[in-house]
Amino acid sequence: MSIRSLIKAGAATVLCAFSLTVFCAPIEIKFSHVVAENTPKGQMAIRFKELVEKRFPGRVSVQVFPNAQLFGDNKELEALILGDIQLVAPSLSKFQKYTDKLQVFDLPFLFQDMEAVDRFQQSPAGQELLNSMEKKGLVGLGYLHNGMKQLSANSPIRLPEDAEGKKFRIMSSDVLAAQFDAVDAIPVKKPFSEVFTLLQTKAIDGQENTWSNIYSKKFFEIQPYITESNHGVLDYLVVTSAEFWHGLPDDLRPGIKKALNESIAYGNEIAALKGEEDKKAIIASGQSQVLSMTAEQRQQWVEKMRPVWKKFDGEIGRDLISAAKAANR
Ligand code: LMR
Repeated sequence: MSIRSLIKAGAATVLCAFSLTVFCAPIEIKFSHVVAENTPKGQMAIRFKELVEKRFPGRVSVQVFPNAQLFGDNKELEALILGDIQLVAPSLSKFQKYTDKLQVFDLPFLFQDMEAVDRFQQSPAGQELLNSMEKKGLVGLGYLHNGMKQLSANSPIRLPEDAEGKKFRIMSSDVLAAQFDAVDAIPVKKPFSEVFTLLQTKAIDGQENTWSNIYSKKFFEIQPYITESNHGVLDYLVVTSAEFWHGLPDDLRPGIKKALNESIAYGNEIAALKGEEDKKAIIASGQSQVLSMTAEQRQQWVEKMRPVWKKFDGEIGRDLISAAKAANR
């Protein structure tokens, strides 16, 4: 236990002792995330708060901080380990500092659709990944869906050559960097909270993201083209710190986990609906043109990006890549 947690635990004990254990301070769970509230993750976090507070009135209180209000991409996992917050759900592309294994989700054109992603996540290999960062003090509590990524840009992108020399914002993943290097584009690692301004000021030419993030953060208002590429997945891992999780009273942990599972299931329903809904809203806005690729065009991207798999198979592990591939039907 860190000194900070010891002090916190000590303070709580003193508080309980003074109040003759009747009015113990509730356990506080701060859930920080970087997206808007009208997204799968935003809705899942709100549902989690409702469920937990209903199940444990006065014993557990949950505060949700959306839109990187509290911590952005660069800081949220550190803050979790330090005990400043208790729950986060970063994209699977943001764990590279803690494990190489989760990079499997970033391999381009690996999953044919979200059903395949889900099958892999629920498979023994996928479930094992939840524990891949225990030694680093992180406990994976469950996967949450967002959806497949699309490419937005300030010029039409259909063929790999169209991306050449263009700057694309990416999340902090070397696999994603290699994916753009493979088509001679320029990957720029930046936090999510900076993407709108980077696009608006033309510091970058484009970015990759899901329909719900492109819609809720208004990227479509400043990016005239969106290619429906479905070239990769953007999903989340709901994580807490080992210290917080194992330090919870035994009578609370299962109920909190149950609330989490239920809110994840709810978030997944929203993800499936919002993917379609937000795409339609973007098309209806007329502010961005949605482009599709022919099967031949798509195949050119697949071939150009195939070397990325080879480049990372040592770090990720061939067996894991094969298990992920096997989830396609
Ligand atoms: C991004 O950085 O583009 C996404 O990971 C944001 C999110 O949490 O959906």
